[in-house]
Amino acid sequence: MSVVSVKASRDYKVTIGAGVISQVGSILKEVAPGITKALVVSDTNTKALYADKVKALIEAEGIQVSEYTFEAGEQSKNIETIAAMWGVMAKAGFTRTDAIVSVGGGVAGDMSGFAAATFLRGIKVVQVPTSLLAMVDACVGGKTGIDLKEGKNLAGAFHQPSAVIEDADCLATLPDEVFTEGMAEVIKYACIMDTELYDLLNANSSRGIAIREDSELMDKIVTKCVADKAYVIEVDEHDNGLRQTLNFGHTIGHVIERNSNFTLAHGVSVAKGMGIIIDSALAAGTLNAEDAVKMKNLIMAYGLPVTDPITPEDAVSGALNDKKKRGNTISLIVVNNIGKAEIVKMTPDDLLVFLKGGSKV
Ligand code: GLY
Repeated sequence: MSVVSVKASRDYKVTIGAGVISQVGSILKEVAPGITKALVVSDTNTKALYADKVKALIEAEGIQVSEYTFEAGEQSKNIETIAAMWGVMAKAGFTRTDAIVSVGGGVAGDMSGFAAATFLRGIKVVQVPTSLLAMVDACVGGKTGIDLKEGKNLAGAFHQPSAVIEDADCLATLPDEVFTEGMAEVIKYACIMDTELYDLLNANSSRGIAIREDSELMDKIVTKCVADKAYVIEVDEHDNGLRQTLNFGHTIGHVIERNSNFTLAHGVSVAKGMGIIIDSALAAGTLNAEDAVKMKNLIMAYGLPVTDPITPEDAVSGALNDKKKRGNTISLIVVNNIGKAEIVKMTPDDLLVFLKGGSKV
């Protein structure tokens, strides 16, 4: 088991390891003194797998548990689901010392965090992420929110969790494609800031996603990613600088994801976005060929794509709708060497020229 401390507007611990879900009741009591009620949020996949167990563990601490389960999938990430969560808590008489416990992937985590940020102007949330993507990225750092019909994650709040509990045993029940998409975010950390992680992933790349069966290795990988994210959050909690480097591959990836009508998974779209930016940076001469090949080979070794037929014109017009755009400027994340990312502010015209340089379409 390992514990990573996150220092932010609210400090908290991320507990990582096989079987740590059994600590959820005691951790909840510790981080939410005076708690009498908890809302356990799950989706239709995680309810039977984990949420029933989490409910029993919390009840064993003498805390009254209400439950809310939503239909698994991004289509549930909307204001109606949040309103339903608020309603369950209001009916049960929750007060400011009570809390939400989220059991699921990024969608559950984002919505539980947003419901917690807004109910009674803010109650505590404990995150129990069950997917690789949520463990290494979405459930750490306090970004919460919902989708609007105009776009993904357009309404939300920064609301740090009070604790995060990451049970590596949960990775065993993930469908292959869900584990694979999580590897895109893992590889992202290696590319932007962590050469040790790159070496570890590269040394195991011939095993591909079979690494999920190696719980010791997975603990190590997840812990490294969480420690990387904790460092970034400590420096830039509110996304004004360093935190933006976590968007490597995301600017174009989000466009690809949206254009697929969300039939392509987030991680798969991010992998394609990273591949496109790597090709463009290589063509622009800011990235050397050896590192470009190494990063693309690593992405592919873990079952992810590095290309997409999107045209540079469509990529730029989609990027203009991205919520990360500030004024007329797009902050593009480029990697100059493995482990070193840079934020490059570009006008839409600059981005078009940059993408045309690397375009394979
Ligand atoms: N998922 C990127 C971030 O938390 O900033």
